[in-house]
Amino acid sequence: EKGGFSSFMDKEIHDQPAAVRDTLLGRLDERGRLSLDELHIDEAVLRSVDKIVVIACGTAAYAGQVARYAIEHWCRIPTEVELAHEFRYRDPIVNEKTLVVALSQSGETMDTLMAIRHAREQGAKVVAICNTNGSSIPRESDASLYTHAGPEIAVASTKAFLAQITAAYLLGLYLAQLRGNMYADEIVDVVDELQKMPEKIQEVIDAEEQVKKLGTDMVDSSSVLFLGRHVGFPVALEGALKLKEIAYIHAEGFAAGELKHGPIALIEEGQPVFVVVPSPRGRDSLHSKVVSNIQEIRARGAITIVIAEEGDESVSDYANHVITVPQAPTLLQPLLATVPLQVFACALAGAKGYDVDQPRNLAKSVTVE
Ligand code: BG6
Repeated sequence: EKGGFSSFMDKEIHDQPAAVRDTLLGRLDERGRLSLDELHIDEAVLRSVDKIVVIACGTAAYAGQVARYAIEHWCRIPTEVELAHEFRYRDPIVNEKTLVVALSQSGETMDTLMAIRHAREQGAKVVAICNTNGSSIPRESDASLYTHAGPEIAVASTKAFLAQITAAYLLGLYLAQLRGNMYADEIVDVVDELQKMPEKIQEVIDAEEQVKKLGTDMVDSSSVLFLGRHVGFPVALEGALKLKEIAYIHAEGFAAGELKHGPIALIEEGQPVFVVVPSPRGRDSLHSKVVSNIQEIRARGAITIVIAEEGDESVSDYANHVITVPQAPTLLQPLLATVPLQVFACALAGAKGYDVDQPRNLAKSVTVE
């Protein structure tokens, strides 16, 4: 039931603090160590893994792209993310030392299922991260790590995305723990931060009115661009996908660093551009590079809608609109920055009078190849 919300999508956006909290539940012991009892793959096999391949489609594939930054950073295992339908048909290099992680909300996506079968035939072990108990993908995998987002009804995925990132992060931390890539204290620090996320997501939702108003004000936009860097890049791709799926607006996500290599040519007077700004407390001057990108597009007439961390004053001079999210470590920022993009798409599509839960031409689970 919609529980008083205008749509299932709206409700499911509001379910996200619980989706993340429930996905963390029971998987951490009192000392902040990971205990993933459901991961029935021999520890020796997990220790010998020399490559991870994440396969998925749609939103789940963007969750995989986010997870890749964390898994490579924490586990130092080369990690690829591939669309399931591309993976299978290009003769991928997969063997007994490959861990395949299949992400799927429904557990019934045929493209993903076929990719799993192909990987297992080559000897790879497959872990399914799935939201639907007993569905085909977990049944055909070696182990499953369920997301506990609850049933997702709206075709456009929201809470499953946040839950998939959470579960993939737990898997990454577990592997790092098992393989000794991180000190116990470092893992505890990340786990502590993860546990604070449901509350922070709630803060973002509590501030949704500003974003909803932007969505209704921008109802006549014919094209919206999204820029992000590092984990903000797949967030930008997901923001664009939401708008395509439910508002039928041309939308594209770009890696902010790629701007000068092409996409900046698209910027003209009045072009709306969302920019996901990394934490100013993060490493590698990522923040200042993205702030320069905002300056560059603003100078060419873009309307800039900036998602930035609370307390980040550096963006206000170049932003037409600033949407703030609570402070969080860089790798966890997608759990916050994605939420306003979902709210925006939902509000804009609603303002157009569309059925946001049942967008044209799409199905919740695609059980054909
Ligand atoms: C698409 C759905 O067809 O499949 C998307 O419309 C979804 O919302 C994608 O992200 C993948 O689905 P699943 O169930 O495998 O996560």
